[in-house]
Amino acid sequence: MSSKILIIGACGQIGSELTFKLREIYGNDNVIASDISYNNLDVVNSGIFEIIDAMDYKSVKICVEKHNIDTIYLMAAMLSATGEKYPMKAWDLNMTSLFHVLDLAKAKFIKKVFWPSSIAVFGPTTPKQDTPQYTTMEPTTVYGITKQVGERWCEYYHEKYNVDVRSIRYPGIISWKTLPGGGTTDYAVEIYHEALKNKSYDCFLSEDTALPMLFMDDAIKATVDIMTANADAIKIRSSYNLAGISFTPKDIAASIKKHIPEFKMSYTPDFRQAIADSWPSSINDMEARKHWNWQHSYDLEAITKEMLTQLKDKY
Ligand code: SER
Repeated sequence: MSSKILIIGACGQIGSELTFKLREIYGNDNVIASDISYNNLDVVNSGIFEIIDAMDYKSVKICVEKHNIDTIYLMAAMLSATGEKYPMKAWDLNMTSLFHVLDLAKAKFIKKVFWPSSIAVFGPTTPKQDTPQYTTMEPTTVYGITKQVGERWCEYYHEKYNVDVRSIRYPGIISWKTLPGGGTTDYAVEIYHEALKNKSYDCFLSEDTALPMLFMDDAIKATVDIMTANADAIKIRSSYNLAGISFTPKDIAASIKKHIPEFKMSYTPDFRQAIADSWPSSINDMEARKHWNWQHSYDLEAITKEMLTQLKDKY
């Protein structure tokens, strides 16, 4: 199966690792990385790279035609914490970029779309533990609203225009290659850097705030799995719940202490606490497991070991 892939937002936390993985699978020349600027040289230098403004339909379409693209992974978005600072910008970026890509698929310029949703689609009225696929969804962040609305549009484009769009509700993603930016779950990455650099971390969430999380390798595997599954296995065209693990800042501190005994954690919750409080603590992802055999591999201990090993040389 040959595929010509465009990744929009390839310099970001997930986009960068997706670029490396997809280049491994499909070959360097078949995966075009793009972003709004050259802000990740590892990605820029790893193969074909284009500057694309996801807000500009023409700029996306020109790239699709130039490279004969049939599949787009739209990884550009403004995340939850930054979105609360710039609500209209978050709305504009997250919705406009999605419509551009869905419309390219509707017009048959491309065949397949991956678009990430998030646990942010849930809100304070959602059952907090083991949150099911189908439940009350009243998101209270702009980011969550864009993801919830985006899910509705994905399903709509699939039903009305037969667009092959596939989506996952990512939990917080933990990784060491590229830093996340502007999210509420970012603490679970920052903490490893600070533990190695300063042997201490001041957490912006309170110690008992449990959130659903996933290691990057698992997140990338899920993304590749859902995109390579047979179309008829993808029975949900809004977005799939996806779980790996769930832990609190206190849990992650304890797992770091096993490797760095002098590590000290303090807690100074800020505006992101309210965002975290509105999200589920754990997710039920039975449908993803059943429909396309999703399985995660990394638990918290394995993540901590891998993060500390990979980041050690940096500090
Ligand atoms: N990691 C995201 C955030 O914290 C959630 O999808 O905004």
